[in-house]
Amino acid sequence: MKILLLHGPNLNMLGQREPEIYGATTLPQIDDMLHERAVAAGVTLLAFQSNHEGALIDFLQAEGWAADGIIINPGALTHYGLSLRDALASLSAPIIEVHLSNVYRREQFRHTSVVAPVATGQIAGLGWRGYLLALEWLLNNAKSG
Ligand code: DQA
Repeated sequence: MKILLLHGPNLNMLGQREPEIYGATTLPQIDDMLHERAVAAGVTLLAFQSNHEGALIDFLQAEGWAADGIIINPGALTHYGLSLRDALASLSAPIIEVHLSNVYRREQFRHTSVVAPVATGQIAGLGWRGYLLALEWLLNNAKSG
């Protein structure tokens, strides 16, 4: 089983970036925790971060067809990234959209997700634990699970 973990723009700055909103945990720490859980479950986890929508799409086009599940925090692309949404829509694996913060308690522009309609589910506001919960769900419900 192969699970993809995608992080969009600015998420490489976790730990430094508005820690009061996004927490003190860094992206490598999050990736490590998920890798550890994936190894324990005997699944392959491929993590990728980019500040560029096209690079995220290239990664999905290269890896998405062979994926059994996708975890993605699209960052601000959540709110307007239609090309990213279309790339996700073309894939058959379950997709979990994750947000560290509760986007619905924040600015109005964050209340809209163009990704949500093509996602299987969404987790928002639970910090880094949201990624682990997404992985747990996929381990039980992924394509070949
Ligand atoms: C975010 C929420 C987005 O609105 C924001 O642009 C981010 C992070 C979150 O994880 O809470 O970059 O996706």
